[in-house]
Amino acid sequence: MSFDPHRIPLDRAAAIALRERGLEYRLLDAKDTDALTRWVRADFRGFHQARPHAGELDAQRRVFGERRLQGVYDPASADPDFPVATVSGWPTGLSMPGGRSIDAWAVSSVTVAPTHRRRGIARALMEAELANARAAGAAVAVLTATEATIYGRFGYAPAARAATLEIDRSRVHWTGRDAPGRCHLVEPASLAADAPAVARRAVARTAGEIDRWPGLLDHVLGLVDPESESARHIRAVRYDDERGQAQGFATYRVRREPDRPGVLEVGFFAAATDDAERAMWRVLCEHDFITRVRAPLRSVDEPISWLVEDPRAISFHEVGDHLWVRVLDPVAALAGRRFGGPGSLVLEVRDPLGHAAGSFEVEADGEGRPEVRRLDGADAATASSGRRNRRQHGIGLGVQELGSILLGGVRPTTLGRAGRISEHARGSLALADRLFAAEREPLLSIWF
Ligand SMILES: CC(C)(COP(=O)(O)OP(=O)(O)OC[C@H]1O[C@@H](n2cnc3c(N)ncnc32)[C@H](O)[C@@H]1OP(=O)(O)O)[C@@H](O)C(=O)NCCC(=O)NCCS
Repeated sequence: MSFDPHRIPLDRAAAIALRERGLEYRLLDAKDTDALTRWVRADFRGFHQARPHAGELDAQRRVFGERRLQGVYDPASADPDFPVATVSGWPTGLSMPGGRSIDAWAVSSVTVAPTHRRRGIARALMEAELANARAAGAAVAVLTATEATIYGRFGYAPAARAATLEIDRSRVHWTGRDAPGRCHLVEPASLAADAPAVARRAVARTAGEIDRWPGLLDHVLGLVDPESESARHIRAVRYDDERGQAQGFATYRVRREPDRPGVLEVGFFAAATDDAERAMWRVLCEHDFITRVRAPLRSVDEPISWLVEDPRAISFHEVGDHLWVRVLDPVAALAGRRFGGPGSLVLEVRDPLGHAAGSFEVEADGEGRPEVRRLDGADAATASSGRRNRRQHGIGLGVQELGSILLGGVRPTTLGRAGRISEHARGSLALADRLFAAEREPLLSIWF
């Protein structure tokens, strides 16, 4: 989405709600270094992180300078120019089943100082972010959550799960097919040129991934502060295909006590092809002098269990919600994905905040390519009344359920069994299962 997020005016409703509490809602000017520095410090404090050092502040200012930042200020506080609450938002692509990307609005840095909590600040900021997302033309808003009970009230729902993968090194005997290219251990800094393109292709092939921002790759490659202890521990592997083209890279570090074998912790993993994925896992698993490989934010459907003789060498931990999606424009969101086959289904969507409410018809051809239209007037009345065409399949669901099934992360029948999606005609949920099925489990492999 080529859209300048700074152009959106400050949300009036949020400004008024906050003013009524004696607080000031401000849009930050990215060129105001002092204000930006204080905002970054407030964000770090909100997430209980150490104070950023000079190099980190520089890097954060570069990243956040590209985003739309808002702060809430309390004129009566000890430092009236230090925000008591922060939020950031920016336009990004969200990869969809079938390989396309839709316009999304990423929300992050939601913090409220403990001195100002539970008086509706986060609510004002979150509702304003939905307005910002709509002003940016985003089909959905997306976020990752520290706690799973905060964002449902704003219409967000878990859409892609992630797991921490643990591999017991002593039980790994590789039986997977060899990849035609080869892996190289490389200096992380040497990846700077290839990493953006590889990461872009890796993102495009996995529904649930969002666009990587340049500062993120600098961070994972240890380029922000190369002499720091953590950066010096980063190791990297690159996979080149049989033509010598880089198709994947992964970063990792080994943590260990003196004279003891270590634990290999995978940092960033980007594979643009299945070959790259297999080959890099093999190198990571076949390190000697380690007991385990630990890889956070991996797919719950990772093929690695099928690449080793003993599938019990691989275990999945901390399986849970990771990417949260809030649908704002059902037509654009649904039209952006490939469906699992042909069929016609009406979705009657409830949305207490109004953004996504309505009746929508998805008609997918034999290749799963959809046509999506909003039903209005008589069509919508028929769809939502008892006078439905018995042959017209339809489901009734809330905006959260729509967000959860959008990428194929949960089957509509599962939500039907939970009483969260109803069907208009017998077989509508089974059809929804077939339509919303995706070629692979969605995954978001970063925090943002
Ligand atoms: C989470 C946080 C931003 C909430 O801020 P807040 O200003 O106190 O929240 P509000 O007063 O606007 O509350 C909004 C609603 O969310 C609920 N809520 C707030 N924090 C919650 C939490 N931690 N868990 C569950 N519900 C929460 C409130 O009960 C309220 O519900 P209601 O409006 O339906 O009655 C704040 O506690 C915080 O900064 N936490 C640390 C950083 C963090 O975890 N940020 C989230 C990043 S993903």
